Amino acid sequence: MQVTMGRFTRLPIVVICALTLIAMDAPAVVSGASKPIDNVATEWSYLAGVIICAQPQPLELGPPIEPNIILAQLHLAQWHALIALKNTGACTTQEIVVAFASHKILSNYFPLQQYGRIDPLLYAQLKNLGPSDTQKKLGKQLGQAVALDLIQKYLPGREFALEAMRDALDSEIKNPRPGVWRYLNNTPAGRAAAFFIFYNLPVSQPYVVPDPTVFIKAFLSEVKPPKVPSAEWNEEYNIEKDIGRADWPGRTPEMNLIAVNSGCLKSYDPSTPELTTCNSETTWATVVRASLPKRTSLYDTVVTLAKLHVAMHDALIVLTTLQYGFWFWRPEMAYKTGDSTHAPIPNWTPYIPTPPHPEFPSGAVTSFSAAATILNSAIGKNVPFTIPSGGVWGPFCPIQGPIGSLSFDSYDDFVVYFQKSRLYAGAHFNDSVVDGLKVGDSVGDYVLANWGVEVPAGVLPKSTYLTVFAELPKVQTEFDPIRLVY
Ligand SMILES: *[C@@H]1O[C@H](CO)[C@@H](O)[C@H](O)[C@H]1NC(C)=O
Repeated sequence: MQVTMGRFTRLPIVVICALTLIAMDAPAVVSGASKPIDNVATEWSYLAGVIICAQPQPLELGPPIEPNIILAQLHLAQWHALIALKNTGACTTQEIVVAFASHKILSNYFPLQQYGRIDPLLYAQLKNLGPSDTQKKLGKQLGQAVALDLIQKYLPGREFALEAMRDALDSEIKNPRPGVWRYLNNTPAGRAAAFFIFYNLPVSQPYVVPDPTVFIKAFLSEVKPPKVPSAEWNEEYNIEKDIGRADWPGRTPEMNLIAVNSGCLKSYDPSTPELTTCNSETTWATVVRASLPKRTSLYDTVVTLAKLHVAMHDALIVLTTLQYGFWFWRPEMAYKTGDSTHAPIPNWTPYIPTPPHPEFPSGAVTSFSAAATILNSAIGKNVPFTIPSGGVWGPFCPIQGPIGSLSFDSYDDFVVYFQKSRLYAGAHFNDSVVDGLKVGDSVGDYVLANWGVEVPAGVLPKSTYLTVFAELPKVQTEFDPIRLVY
């Protein structure tokens, strides 16, 4: 391992094990087992999914803090705890430090769930593990220290970014341009009610990829939306015009089911308290638990989950940097408004309501593709899996009620399914789901290649004096990302 973690040596650990039997560099995962994996790390992954999906999160408000941040911190804390254990040689066990690190992260973000859900899992695990008083004390000390470190270093720049974006959009209102994002309901009331999701992410620091604009320039300079008007735009326009539209007579029940699988997962219904597939991050955590071979070591489980959630987290930052840099318009805006080569279609309505952030590239496909890239490497390219049934749809969804399970032959197949899903939902143009795959893939590859070169910390620089600057691009298809100004 190339990892060094100097700061852990400062921890006041006095009791060192005479014999530290820690298999840190265990062989890669063993395949062939059929039952789902169940260890200390996956139990916390499952509980995090249950809690995140049970939060009352009306779509128009968005979650209090993005699940991608919580899950990245949860599994980084587990990983840091294992490294700290190794570096200090503290006389406790992998399971104990992972349990305490996880407990700290979840109780920080979900204090109201601590007594009912979070403490009971810790106590159950400790009971199983039966630690000595010394092991318990040291495990708690190490686990909590690494978790706190991660929590304290993460400071999203939320309000700053939101104001900057509103100002930028207000200046666009007077002179809306084809191809540029706008308020769907461009009245004072509509603008006041408009909301954004992901708006804090373009000013958050990725864990492994470098500054997102540097990353984009280096690896994704070819990725851009079509110029409006252009032959390429014509093609995109025509592909999505029917398949994304709610009242297209050619819609089939199968298309609709595929569409709701990406468009409605954020909904919440108290009748399904064990739902763990309510967004991209919890869905892929569920995929890992369904497909990681049963005999995978705790260390390999933790690293797989940490890489997965860090890659999804960093992919979302790169994604939002692109989205809030190109400000490309959504199908609903494009079809309703028209442009110099297309007449307006005033009653064009997407099958699922338009998401409240710019269009290019597809966020769902980007984060799915980052996840698949990690799992292709960590587990395998042709690993079949089934996501359990149980989704229940919220007020914005055209289909209501539970849905069946979904089975795929590979992680890549799941990404392709989501590409179709975003088109059938009426949320994206085809080039957006094609390029989203490239973006996620490049982030996933970067995370795999650079994992452990530096220990991911996720620090936002000088957040106290943060000024966020946003501007819509002067020329459509120009890339003008949201940036920090000191
Ligand atoms: C989207 O674009 C890709 C790449 O050009 C193409 O292979 C695919 O068929 C397109 N999808 C649709 C629905 O036309």
